[in-house]
Amino acid sequence: MAHKIRVGALISGGGTNLQAIIDAGRSGKMDADIVFVGSDNPDAYGLQRARNSGISTFVVDYRQAIRSFKENLDRWQLPADFQLDEIRANQAIWPRSTDPEKVDAFLRGRAVAESMLLEAMRPYSFDLLVLAGFMRNLTPYFIDRVNVDRTRPRIMNIHPALLPAFPGTDGYGDTFRYGCKVGGCTVHFVDYGEDSGPIIGQRAFPIREDDTLDAVRRRGLEQEWQLYPECIQLFAEGRLKTVRTTHELPGGTIFERTVVNVLPKR
Ligand code: GRF
Repeated sequence: MAHKIRVGALISGGGTNLQAIIDAGRSGKMDADIVFVGSDNPDAYGLQRARNSGISTFVVDYRQAIRSFKENLDRWQLPADFQLDEIRANQAIWPRSTDPEKVDAFLRGRAVAESMLLEAMRPYSFDLLVLAGFMRNLTPYFIDRVNVDRTRPRIMNIHPALLPAFPGTDGYGDTFRYGCKVGGCTVHFVDYGEDSGPIIGQRAFPIREDDTLDAVRRRGLEQEWQLYPECIQLFAEGRLKTVRTTHELPGGTIFERTVVNVLPKR
C-alpha cells in the first residue's frame, strides 16, 4: 500500500465534506487518514461524524474565547511569540472597522483563539491541514505556524464558488443571486487573503432557469465531495507544486501570482 499522509481537519458545521474525506480515506480512494478534527463551534455536527469514525476531536470555542478576551483584557496573556507589527504587516483580511485600535484588538483576539487552536493541534503530527467548512478566517499568526516551510503551503480550503468570483461566506448564494449560468467549487491553498490562495482544483456545474438556491447548493456540494478527496490525493502523491509566475500585460503592467502546477502522475 502507498504511504498514507496524515491529515488534520478543521470544521464549523455539518461536516459533509469531512464525511466524504473520511470515506475516501477508508475506501482506499485516497492515501490519507484524518488524524484529528477540530472545531470552533461546540455544536458542529461534524464532531459527531468524527467520533462515529473513531477520530479524535477537540473544540476551541472561538465565540467564548474572543468574548472572554474582550471582557478581561488585562487578565489575558497574548502568546509569547505574537508580534503585532509583523502580523499587521501581513494581514490581508480586515474587520469592518478601520479604526487602528479596533483592528489591533481584532488581531490580538484572533491570535489568542488561534494559539488555543495550535495548542490543541500540538499532540498530532500532520502533513496537511484541511479546512472543511471552517467558517473562521485565519490570520498570518496561525498560517505561518503551520506553513513552516513557506515554499510548501499545507493548509487547504474548499470554497463554494468558482474563485476568484464570489469569495466570502455565501458562495452559492452569491453565484445564484448574480444570475450566473454556471456555478462551481474550488479547492485552494490558504494564503493571507480571503479565499485568495493558489487554486488546486475546480469543478463547475450548470445552473438552469428553474433552479432554486437549494438545488444549486445541493448540486455544488455533490461536486465538493468529489473534488476535495481528489485534491488531497494530489497532495499525497506529491504532485502539487507552487510556483511564482510573472506576466507582462499590454501597457507594461506586471502581473505576478503564485499558482499551483499539478505535476503528471509518476
Ligand atoms: C461547503 O459548502 C464548503 O464549500 C463551505 O462550507 C460548506 C461546508 O459544508 N466552505 P459541510 O460542513 O462540509 O457540509
